[in-house]
Amino acid sequence: MSQDFLQKTDPTAKRIWNALETHFHEVSCSLQELFRPDRFEKFSLSFNDLFIDFSKTHVNETTMKLLVKLAEECHLKESIEMMFDGVKINETEHRAVLHTALRNFSDQPVDVDGNDVMPEIRNVLQKIKTFTEELHQGKRCGFSGKKIDTIVNIGIGGSDLGPVMVCKALKYYEIDGMKCHFVSNVDGTHIHETLKDCNPETTLFLIVSKTFTTQETMANAQTARQWFLKHASENEIGKHFVAVSTNAKDVETFGIDKDNMFEFWDFVGGRYSMWSAVGLSIACYVGYDNFEKMLRGGEMMDNHFRYTPFEKNIPVILALLGIWYTNFHNYQVETILPYDQYLERFPAYLQQLIMESNGKYVDRNGELINYSTSPIIWGEPGTNGQHSFYQLLHQGTVNSLAIFMAPALPLNDLDHHHKILISNFFAQTEALMNGKDEVTVEAELKAKGASKEEIRKLLPHKVFEGDKPSISILYKKLTPEMLGMLVAVFEHRTFVQGIIWNIYSFDQFGVELGKELAKKILPELENDELITTHDSSTNGLLNQWKVMRNEK
Ligand code: F6P
Repeated sequence: MSQDFLQKTDPTAKRIWNALETHFHEVSCSLQELFRPDRFEKFSLSFNDLFIDFSKTHVNETTMKLLVKLAEECHLKESIEMMFDGVKINETEHRAVLHTALRNFSDQPVDVDGNDVMPEIRNVLQKIKTFTEELHQGKRCGFSGKKIDTIVNIGIGGSDLGPVMVCKALKYYEIDGMKCHFVSNVDGTHIHETLKDCNPETTLFLIVSKTFTTQETMANAQTARQWFLKHASENEIGKHFVAVSTNAKDVETFGIDKDNMFEFWDFVGGRYSMWSAVGLSIACYVGYDNFEKMLRGGEMMDNHFRYTPFEKNIPVILALLGIWYTNFHNYQVETILPYDQYLERFPAYLQQLIMESNGKYVDRNGELINYSTSPIIWGEPGTNGQHSFYQLLHQGTVNSLAIFMAPALPLNDLDHHHKILISNFFAQTEALMNGKDEVTVEAELKAKGASKEEIRKLLPHKVFEGDKPSISILYKKLTPEMLGMLVAVFEHRTFVQGIIWNIYSFDQFGVELGKELAKKILPELENDELITTHDSSTNGLLNQWKVMRNEK
């Protein structure tokens, strides 16, 4: 199937978009007005221990029908097939998009340019399995013969956020005695503080970089190498340094030989790469079996996404609800609120996944877009967020779609804590929707003995207008499979939105300019010369930096 088959049309020029706009004005009623006893059954979905309630959003049956029609008219079905089939849908980089092939345990081939990529994928997976098993069995030791007990993953962006999020999420499943650190920031503090916790005899460094040219990763890798060489000789490097990359040449130049390099391919985007050898730290930390279970969870969601009618398709429905709020309600923010401490880094992970994929203002025809694309993604685990920024969610002037997530069963045997946690999870979506009206506030204040004057003054501050939408994602338990499913849900949701917005979701040229300028500035920091080559603000800041450094 060729890309040209798809019309890359502006979604807002479609009749269905107009129909949605008209519908939006017709149904502008509050969530409370929308609520009927059967609403929960009608506006919820489930799949394999995963349950999604979207009844607390401003939709009715017509909204959902129109949104599904929008997806159909944007050729979503064909686009999904093209992605799974290895068509080069990442046109600006001339690449296929095949993170789904990394978790394909079927016997089906996946062709790119007429070559089946599955044998190579299986080989690397086998190499990960053998490597991690040898590590855990003590067959692959450090230079002094001691067992490796510390992993340091050096990478940034997609070569960091996925693995760090997963290692935190699956900490419950960690291999006994294994520690895992992540160094991403080029701020020397990051590597310095990490190395303080490392013993050179028992530490394994994973240098993870798709390109193997990323400035931050290379600087951290060199520092780690120098630190190691203070304690051991060059020929011990092979026991302590491993690379994950698509760039074999630069890996070798760094001094890591082929046997210690895990390959991945240009059809795996950085932010979609935790399923590849980029996830080596995960397999080292929680064991290969758990890593594979996570991949299988991802595959389950792939099959659901590929073969389920849109009306019942979790990533599709979640994507359409996002579009409904971003483009019709004009919301600019989505808040991710996992009531699961293990998912501490899930919001940060989604920031890259969603904003790096869909933060674009040019469409697939190279035209400027006149509608919104990715909202701002942020969030924190509950209940912590409740004690800081929820004030804005309840009474602020910014509108956000809130996505709540929680397990039905805790992993740790502290059910009392879990019930307190989950009561807050349920309470918050109820509070956001229903708010608190004047009559209730007045009655409460009266009951507390407040005077008429006090009531008059306090009332507006204590009223919650409510009508704030939320989606609740309830899952049975945070197993590796469930985590794989959850990540795949958001990956596919992001893909669907990119198709509808008619943008290329798999490049990220927007991150390049700052990096290029930093490279130009770096040599200017090497001397005391007055800088005059930039705008006056940048010149001024650079020169002020020099002054401050020279002050005694
Ligand atoms: O700066 C953005 C980015 O290109 C991400 O897309 C990518 O995940 C990250 O940098 C790291 O790149 P690499 O794996 O090549 O070091």
